[in-house]
Amino acid sequence: METIKLKKLIDRMTVAEKVGQLVQLTPDFFAQGGEITGPMQQWQMSEEQLGTIGSVLGTHTAEQVYTIQTSYLEKSRLKIPLIFMADVIHGYETIFPIPLALASSFDAQLVEEVAKASAKEAAEAGIHVTFSPMADHVKDPRWGRVLESNGEDPTLSAVLTAAYVRGYQGTDALAENKQRIAACVKHFVGYGAAEGGRDYHTVDLSDLELYQNYLPAFQAAIEAGAELVMTSFNTIHGVPATANQPLLQDVLREKLGFDGLIISDWAAVAELMAHRVAADRTEAAKKAFTAGVEMDMMSDCYLNALEQIIDADPAMNEQLNKAVFHVLHLKNKLGLFEDPYRGLTPENLAPRLLKETRLLSREAAKKTTVLLKNQALLPLQKKQKVALIGPKADSKDLLGAWSWIGKQEEAVSLAKGLSQKEIDLTILPYPDGKVLTAAYIEEACRLAEQSEVVLLALGETSEEAGEAASLTKLSLSRNQEALVAAVSQVNPKIATILFCGRPLVLSAIEPLCQAIMIAWFPGSEGGNALADLLMGESEPQGRLAMSFPRAEGQLPMTYAQLSTGRPLTEENSDQKYISRYMDEKNDPLFSFGAGIGYGQCKISKTQIVHPDEKNKPFELICTLKNEGDSPHTTTLQLYSRDDVTEVARPMRELKQWQKINLAAAEETQHSFYVTPEDFAYVHSDFSTKSDPGTISLYLGFAAASAKLIGTLTI
Ligand code: GLC
Repeated sequence: METIKLKKLIDRMTVAEKVGQLVQLTPDFFAQGGEITGPMQQWQMSEEQLGTIGSVLGTHTAEQVYTIQTSYLEKSRLKIPLIFMADVIHGYETIFPIPLALASSFDAQLVEEVAKASAKEAAEAGIHVTFSPMADHVKDPRWGRVLESNGEDPTLSAVLTAAYVRGYQGTDALAENKQRIAACVKHFVGYGAAEGGRDYHTVDLSDLELYQNYLPAFQAAIEAGAELVMTSFNTIHGVPATANQPLLQDVLREKLGFDGLIISDWAAVAELMAHRVAADRTEAAKKAFTAGVEMDMMSDCYLNALEQIIDADPAMNEQLNKAVFHVLHLKNKLGLFEDPYRGLTPENLAPRLLKETRLLSREAAKKTTVLLKNQALLPLQKKQKVALIGPKADSKDLLGAWSWIGKQEEAVSLAKGLSQKEIDLTILPYPDGKVLTAAYIEEACRLAEQSEVVLLALGETSEEAGEAASLTKLSLSRNQEALVAAVSQVNPKIATILFCGRPLVLSAIEPLCQAIMIAWFPGSEGGNALADLLMGESEPQGRLAMSFPRAEGQLPMTYAQLSTGRPLTEENSDQKYISRYMDEKNDPLFSFGAGIGYGQCKISKTQIVHPDEKNKPFELICTLKNEGDSPHTTTLQLYSRDDVTEVARPMRELKQWQKINLAAAEETQHSFYVTPEDFAYVHSDFSTKSDPGTISLYLGFAAASAKLIGTLTI
């Protein structure tokens, strides 16, 4: 529909109909029986109000979408179709590794393919918008939602957040390509900085920190075309983001240039009363709407108060019309006025899952798994006598949080994956999530004693990571550490495979394991992917997108920490008045960027070539040699340190990376290209620019171990 016709449609709408378009409810408000049950009664909502709402979130099937849309349009005076949204975070029915795992692939192309495949399944189920990507900057794995993030580095997160948007939305018009869906980037902003890592807790960030580290991923998503932004639950500068006009207008609209639809998080408008910045629903609605929230997800504040607010202040009609336009414009972009079902017909409502999507999930799980330690124990050898022990040994709880309608029973367990391989496998499963008993640990030791290699499959349940899953202790729970300690007494050849949604504290078990593999929540094909890796049919390629701390007391932490006035160095490590702990090291147990494969390569012949012309880039050249007799994949990482700056800056910052495949014994040359713009940072006046001066450059395979290769002068 032409835009002019949209505006004419808005002119025909009553204020009540306009307000309705700004409300999003779950499907249970549309109980098929037509009887008003549950939430509607609590919300004193009428049938005609229900007939005006603009959006539904959380449907699970195409049939549900088709039924709700049909019955809704039958009663709609102006035949404005509903728009359907859902949390397609890492897959719709075929589930991929969690976003923190996908980030550990350092592979934007993979992320884009995963998002595209997820969009296809979701679109075929009638979904128009996904509440993804999550662009939150994170430094604290006590916060369970690091699971949904792209990890601790703002540069990596920005690249991947844009890749998600491209994968979901594609580049063609959404009205034409019905296999793509609109992306809603979230949670704007600062949610990951919750104090104490406690979900929904207070956030207080300096503007410098906000602009430097929290906004870049949102900027990238908006530049990639994200159609929606979701406001976060938390306060920022003392005001909840959902009622924060300077944040939504000056920062999101003006500075980041976002001109799409702003939607609240679940009931976040009503929660302004719990924040105690609104006395009642009317004040909550007024504050959120004035701040710029255009769609009220799952609260009745707009529905029951906005009309009166507009009547009392007719000047707000302009803002109301703008908000309604954003909603109708998005529906129009999706082609919903021409086809409210966006390709769904009664004949094609059944899901059409593709084998190639499962294969992509398996490929993704192989590229996201991180091998952190290996003392020549892996890969397993054919015919080896292998014991597979632990609560995750035969668990199908591999999908992780936000795995939409992914079916656990259709996930491939590690036991199932390994049983397809040529090894002498004995499995000793245990109910996932239960406390290990002494009897089980004894039985495990007996089995371990008779085995050549012991695989311990341990970790979290999907209930223990994700939203509202904050932890104060990140070490292995439920006696899993006792299992490692006991087994290590009878057989040192232990490879521990960890299924988790966040960095854990592995300090107690690290010395007891000859190999440690982070499987994250690997998705529907997890067991097959891990079996391929454990047998050496594929090489682990993942590199940590988030540091694994030695202790919770170190948190929040990031490799990109500032120098401080008393930095700990090798030279002063015996001095007292240094920025350090008395009872723990400063550095993480495993660094951002860490991870190994089955081969190894060496960097040599590094050089920095200064440009002979002003606007040409610097070239950083190095030689990479595969020292093994098998192909090897690595992720070469370039870090920088701006040596003297106007505001304090990190000692290391990831600038670029390259995934490199080397044939056996191959030696190749690689280049990175950087310009002064690559070293721009936010100054105290909030301008973003680079300074003249020297930049130290580090090259390597992890933040902590990258080596100084020289400096350049800009
Ligand atoms: C949840 C989450 C948000 C999600 C929304 C809709 O509470 O905070 O990430 O997209 O509600 O389910």
